[in-house]
Amino acid sequence: MPENIKNDPKKEFSDKSRCSAEKIPVIHMFIGKGGVGKSTSSALTALHGARQKYKTLLVSMDPAHNQSDIFETQFSHKSTRILETLDIIEVNEKIWEKKYLQQTLKHLQETYNYQSAFGMQGYFKVLRHSPGIEEFALTLAFSNILKTFKDKDLLIFDMPPTAQSLRFLSLPSITRIWLKELIQLRKAILKKKEIITKIKIGTKEFEQDRISSRLGEMNGMYQQLETLFGSNDMHINLVMNPDRLAFSESLRTVEKLGAVNLAPSHIFLNKIQAGDDIGYIQQTFDTKPILCLNMSRYPLTGIDALSSCLNEQHVVFSDFLTKDVSLSGNYF
Ligand SMILES: Nc1ncnc2c1ncn2[C@@H]1O[C@H](COP(=O)(O)OP(=O)(O)OP(=O)(O)O)[C@@H](O)[C@H]1O
Ligand SMILES: [Mg+2]
Repeated sequence: MPENIKNDPKKEFSDKSRCSAEKIPVIHMFIGKGGVGKSTSSALTALHGARQKYKTLLVSMDPAHNQSDIFETQFSHKSTRILETLDIIEVNEKIWEKKYLQQTLKHLQETYNYQSAFGMQGYFKVLRHSPGIEEFALTLAFSNILKTFKDKDLLIFDMPPTAQSLRFLSLPSITRIWLKELIQLRKAILKKKEIITKIKIGTKEFEQDRISSRLGEMNGMYQQLETLFGSNDMHINLVMNPDRLAFSESLRTVEKLGAVNLAPSHIFLNKIQAGDDIGYIQQTFDTKPILCLNMSRYPLTGIDALSSCLNEQHVVFSDFLTKDVSLSGNYF
């Protein structure tokens, strides 16, 4: 059994951050292998939440957006209300990639004034093709959704296929490893140059070195995300099917999540048919709630079909979400 399935690593935020002013919604992310039913499970969960009267936003983070087909309604990067308590939005990755690059250039310009002499457009061209842009852009989009939709009770994220989702989820902790090194390196450079960069006004110290201060800012931002990802308000739902290939990939996903101290909170075992052997899956994931969804007899498209499916499988969903939402804490 994967170690991080046994030990739930979710940690409570410190009392200090719990006391701060703003509440954020409970977050459910659906990850898994291509075609296992991430979009369908997130659509069902969003509809279930909305039917419980939770103000719900379903966010399609997969560039190959599926929610328009599932709800038979055209969605876009602006949220569309389809029920009193349900809005749906598609993250347009191209818009966020552009915003991310513009933001990066702005920071570069502010931090290294002299670089403008070399022509920032040159950097723009290089950055556009640099690895990881999609994940950084997705992170920017995610942070923006958190900021814009603070009033929601529930945010449901339909995620891209496993590899990109894993890169997105591990981005804060991996970036922080780099940032820690860079902060140390900057300190060493300043020390060598014998430059004193901090000034004290009253009891507070202010960083004068623009590079150190930018690195510190970035570290703070990714630390907040890292803490959120590991918190009780964030649920990673691993969707799989009762077949050996989906099972093996799910085990690898759990292992990779474990490498950045994350773990799935629920397993969605989807498309179960009579006669399927699910015993080995239940045994492997025996410390996690497993939601078993049967293969539907009718296509799961359109709000009526999704509602009928929820009515038929109400036992599966009856306990899901309720506790999480009422547990929602105050963050940031
Ligand atoms: N419980 C179910 N019963 C019947 N059909 C299902 C069920 N769950 C999903 N499907 C169907 O399986 C197909 C794949 O589902 P879905 O699009 O939700 O998967 P996905 O993991 O989001 O795929 P992708 O990786 O391509 O985004 C769809 O045709 C969907 O209608
Ligand atoms: Mg999908």
